[in-house]
Amino acid sequence: MKALILVGGYGTRLRPLTLTVPKPIVDFANKPMIIHQIEALKDACCTEVVLAINYQPKVMMDFLKEWEEKLAIKITCSQETEPMGTAGPLKLAEEILNDGSGDPFFVLNSDVICDFPLKEMLAFHKSKGAEGTILVTQVEDPSKYGVVVTDEAGKVDRFVEKPKVFVGDKINAGIYVLSPKVLDRIELRPTSIEKETFPLISRDGALYAFTLPGYWMDVGQPKDYLTGLQLHLASLRRKAPEQLAQGPEIEGNVILHPTAKIGRDCKIGPNVSIGIECVIKDGARISNSVLLHRVKVKNFARVADSIIGWGSSIGRWARIDNKSVIGEDVHIKDEVFLNGTIVLPHKEIKETVLDAGTII
Ligand code: GDD
Ligand code: MG
Repeated sequence: MKALILVGGYGTRLRPLTLTVPKPIVDFANKPMIIHQIEALKDACCTEVVLAINYQPKVMMDFLKEWEEKLAIKITCSQETEPMGTAGPLKLAEEILNDGSGDPFFVLNSDVICDFPLKEMLAFHKSKGAEGTILVTQVEDPSKYGVVVTDEAGKVDRFVEKPKVFVGDKINAGIYVLSPKVLDRIELRPTSIEKETFPLISRDGALYAFTLPGYWMDVGQPKDYLTGLQLHLASLRRKAPEQLAQGPEIEGNVILHPTAKIGRDCKIGPNVSIGIECVIKDGARISNSVLLHRVKVKNFARVADSIIGWGSSIGRWARIDNKSVIGEDVHIKDEVFLNGTIVLPHKEIKETVLDAGTII
């Protein structure tokens, strides 16, 4: 079986991290976002994953070479010369996706994280004889998503992208099973699967929704990325608690790379992920945060609700708080307080910044 992952866009909402690497290879819980997806696809018996890319294809493909071997799955690239939207890339990759077997294929948005119930979804798709099946989940504020309205059997009556008025709270989770027939409905031009293709299939009564058991999050922006981490770690606690850290310094759900070093009298957690070769000195306090690889946190510093980029350092008694996102190779001096600050890569920060949202 084949799969296509939509890897478009510049990832602007996850800057400054995406100034260093494309969004899909930013780590989430110590593993690149897209690897969570490719592992799940492999688990669901996919043998080939096509990445639909329109930006920095070489960086992505070079990076994924290593994973192609590790995971023993074919990873290919279908490159657009102009952004083709969310449906155009499927038509562009038609020859790979429609291999004559009649088998359906998976399509994933590259920024969604969940328990990936792909096998269950495929069985549902086949049992309905559907042309398309959308994974759906319930959210409190559906306005920034695609809303899916179904009948009791799961048949989609309406699909409304980014609704202005309330039409329902079940939303498109950005994961589809599609039969090759869908490709006949898409023209080779920039076009939106949500706005153009799904309404057509649902009008013919061939579009179904499969409700996601478990957690889900679009982790394409810092606040949601941190919420997603919290949900992911809670799911690990239930399903694979051995992957979570233990010890006197650990509080709640924490994922700690084995090469990371934690000093004495630290308090780490809840909802923290700590990457390769991070060093946390005595008395530091970290909660609801992510340290990417090789971050140094000096004595008695405090990091809360924030993301710290690769190779950065946090000075003694410094405090990083309130959805701050620190880019790669940033060095924060002792006793500095950053409150909701976005810091671009390769900087030295000597002064406190109290106004949330400041970019430096
Ligand atoms: N190859 C390619 N080319 N990919 C693209 C392009 C393009 O021109 N434009 C967007 N994408 C990719 C993005 O990288 C992402 O993986 C996916 O298509 C969806 O685009 P987003 O920009 O993340 O859309 P969204 O988050 O506002 O909304 C989408 O996702 C929601 C779930 O998170 C929609 O599918 C909504 O219906 C859905 O609820
Ligand atoms: Mg998105």
